[in-house]
Amino acid sequence: MKQAFYKELLKQLAALIDGESDMVAIMANVSALIKEQAGHHWVGFYIVRDNPATNVRELCLGPFQGPVACYRIGYGKGVCGTAWARRETVVVPDVEAFPGHIACSSLSRSEIVVPVFKDDEVTAVLDIDSAEPGTFDSTDAQYLEQACMMISEAVKSY
Ligand code: SME
Repeated sequence: MKQAFYKELLKQLAALIDGESDMVAIMANVSALIKEQAGHHWVGFYIVRDNPATNVRELCLGPFQGPVACYRIGYGKGVCGTAWARRETVVVPDVEAFPGHIACSSLSRSEIVVPVFKDDEVTAVLDIDSAEPGTFDSTDAQYLEQACMMISEAVKSY
């Protein structure tokens, strides 16, 4: 059932980003597409950026759909910073059992974070929060990684 959902989602995503290369525009529409189709609590991107105030490279809030969220997440911090540091998808079935989870919203119960790579560097992460526990598994990871590869190929500059 998940597979059929994601196959359709990836088709829609391909059509949605066809001919566009702007990072913000693509991330905004991909957030909206996933939020509308899947109905999760929060869907969005954090982008790897140098913080001009500190010169520290960190994740900065990008386009998203859902409640307001924290602006910045450090390398290795929270689920997002962990996915960045590990360079791999992190699936969290129960956010309360994940040490260091950053609770932007008290309604989040489970989460998946998928890195977006460009030239072997993590340039952003896709973060999806669910208000239900145990929402995400390896099937979500597999298809959302494909989605992030499509985004990475489409975006020309970060
Ligand atoms: N829970 C995330 C923070 C971002 S919000 O979920 C939108 C984390 O632990 O990195």
